Amino acid sequence: MSRVSVAFLLELCLFATLVQGSHDDERKVGFGGRCIMSMKIDSEIEDKARQAKIYSYGKSFNGFAARLLPHEVQKLSDEDTVVSVFANTKRKLHTTRSWDFLGMPETSRSRNSKVESNMIVGVLDTGKNTAVKLIGAKYFNLENAATGPLSPADDDGHGTHTSSIAAGVAVKGASFYGIAKGTARGGAPSARIAMYKVCWESGCSDMDLLAGFDEAIADGVDLISVSVGGPSKEFFSDPMAIGSFHAMKRGILTSCSGGNDGPTDYTIENVAPWILTVAASSIDRQFQTEFKLGNGESYNGLSINTFSPRKQMYPLISGTLAADSHQNYLNASACDYGSLSKHKVKGRVVYCEGYFGQDDTIKQLGGIGLVASADSSTYADVAFVMSTPGTTVSSKDGEKIDRYINSTKNPRAVISKTRTAKMNAPFITAFSSRGPQQITLNILKPDLAAPGLDILAAYSKLPSVTGDPLDKRHATFNILSGTSMACPHAVAAAAYVKSFHPNWSPAAIKSALMTTAMPMKIKDQFAELSSGSGQINPVKAVHPGLVYDITVRSYISFLCKEGYNGTTIALLTGGKKKFNCSSFKPAHGTDGLNYPSMHLQLTDTGTSISAVFYRTVTNVGSKKAVYKAKVTAPKGVSIRVVPDTLKFNNLHEKQSFKVIVKGDRVKKGTHIMSGSLEWSDSRHSVKSPILVFTTDEPIIT
Ligand SMILES: *[C@@H]1O[C@H](CO)[C@@H](O)[C@H](O)[C@H]1NC(C)=O
Ligand SMILES: *[C@@H]1O[C@H](CO)[C@@H](O)[C@H](O)[C@H]1NC(C)=O
Ligand SMILES: *[C@@H]1O[C@H](CO)[C@@H](O)[C@H](O)[C@H]1NC(C)=O
Ligand SMILES: *[C@@H]1O[C@H](CO)[C@@H](O)[C@H](O)[C@H]1NC(C)=O
Repeated sequence: MSRVSVAFLLELCLFATLVQGSHDDERKVGFGGRCIMSMKIDSEIEDKARQAKIYSYGKSFNGFAARLLPHEVQKLSDEDTVVSVFANTKRKLHTTRSWDFLGMPETSRSRNSKVESNMIVGVLDTGKNTAVKLIGAKYFNLENAATGPLSPADDDGHGTHTSSIAAGVAVKGASFYGIAKGTARGGAPSARIAMYKVCWESGCSDMDLLAGFDEAIADGVDLISVSVGGPSKEFFSDPMAIGSFHAMKRGILTSCSGGNDGPTDYTIENVAPWILTVAASSIDRQFQTEFKLGNGESYNGLSINTFSPRKQMYPLISGTLAADSHQNYLNASACDYGSLSKHKVKGRVVYCEGYFGQDDTIKQLGGIGLVASADSSTYADVAFVMSTPGTTVSSKDGEKIDRYINSTKNPRAVISKTRTAKMNAPFITAFSSRGPQQITLNILKPDLAAPGLDILAAYSKLPSVTGDPLDKRHATFNILSGTSMACPHAVAAAAYVKSFHPNWSPAAIKSALMTTAMPMKIKDQFAELSSGSGQINPVKAVHPGLVYDITVRSYISFLCKEGYNGTTIALLTGGKKKFNCSSFKPAHGTDGLNYPSMHLQLTDTGTSISAVFYRTVTNVGSKKAVYKAKVTAPKGVSIRVVPDTLKFNNLHEKQSFKVIVKGDRVKKGTHIMSGSLEWSDSRHSVKSPILVFTTDEPIIT
């Protein structure tokens, strides 16, 4: 045991950031001249750090990654010039109808193709593939995580998928083995992709992610897309927050996936206010796979089954009845790996309780296919690609199938090839991570929603379509689900808006996407906590009328009000001077940022509701305009807007107003009260959700 523990400590990789410029003369002694290491660090530690150094960041921000022992870490942390030292952690990867569904024009008439074709979207992901117009690809493997050959080639498929959603050229007659036929295209087909491979088989390490950001910013990309996530952390130890802040400073908007840990609340990831955090919604298409029994009954399961049956019916057995009697400690009813007898499975369709992965097991044992039953709250609406004929049904239907198996001597069944059906949309997928967030309580996350369920997009032919090595299907298209797929949809929408407004700040583009989004009505009461401002509407976002803009300085004063100090802020800003936070008081009853949505999170129901949101809008619509406020308030809460009329006489003119929210104490428990503000002239409507969340329950994450 102790050996393992020592090995781990030696492998502990750290990222340290240093304040730039405070020791100009001493800079040169740093690592390769790029990263600064103060002379004041005692020479023993400096030597150790130099030997242990893995990487110097220095193109867009300062810092280095090194392997250090805990006492060395402590010494380094104590240095004045070292802002933050944190352990390297691993993050994980979190896609043709979707653009038509969003009403996004395919014709170039309504595009600004000339500007769009000069636009570069930086994608931090699993690598590149020829299916996507690429202007460049680089890889980062600082932790030696790569197992195969070192190259930016996409051996996973995820990076090809996400980048083609953002900027794939239109491909007519695209489909996945005949399923989901149509024209596959990216949202900004003229834009170009710069791929930064930062994810390997074992995940995406913080060090590689930061290297990707550093490089992409230096390369001059216009937008960054990162479909990667991990548990939310304080911003000064969160590579996504750090990298995207530096990008924002250079006018680059970063869009990130919000995570796939829904429908549980408090699961949202990538929550920094300068990030566009994207939830996953459905499109109006569902992949249904019919499962028919010998008694004529049939069930509509969810899956992507590319196989057509050769016979009318096949023998059927349950995992319980196919158990290998020597392995009775394993769960045969769930068809766990190793629990089933090969000769009982061979040539049969198998019924399995529970979810996932059993298709590989059944395939290995020579089974014909499987029907799995589950009531997974997370994956309830996802159709997964099966490596062998298969589908999933509800556990209620599963019980009926099991009863049929038990009731007849020769149970039989057949699984059809998947067909597509229309469904009502959009809704937020169950897996999409939910707010509220816990880092900056009064900023609503996610920001908005974009399609992320069962998305057909380009794929890499290096892996099989299911990742199962026994699966011999390698295809140029695949159907995947996740907020990973939603994120590039939002990036493409941002690129589309930016092609019309090249000089807009990242916050202005984000505001345009948020205030024109379609608020989502959701069966459960957590609409805003799962979809933020709602479903993106790229076409409307080009003409938002008003924008809520945010400067770098406003973000910094916001961080001061949140309790960050000059030292930690320097990590984000990389500025020469430490910012003096002492004139910024902590924000009580307000959010301290000109955000396009308004959110009050109270963790004590003993107090009454009282908040003021100070906002400033910039006129980007008609030169002369009069906007009137329309407010909807939830029961028990009053919302007042002062003033409630805004008159503009010029473009780029700014007007300020405040939103006063008041309410009595709420009863014990968790309460979500949602209202909205809409500014409208005759042509634009600028919408913001207003959400009051109160809870006195301990947060379990
Ligand atoms: C076997 O797995 C199923 C499905 O996950 C579960 O419902 C059942 O409780 C498990 N049985 C045992 C004995 O663990
Ligand atoms: C079918 O039979 C198996 C084995 O006896 C049993 O475990 C299972 O509960 C039965 N299923 C139903 C739905 O009765
Ligand atoms: C700044 O904040 C960090 C992190 O909370 C803390 O460790 C540090 O002591 C603070 N510095 C000052 C000067 O207060
Ligand atoms: C920060 O500002 C406060 C008041 O504005 C001032 O008293 C203090 O000296 C300043 N601190 C530094 C380090 O400049």
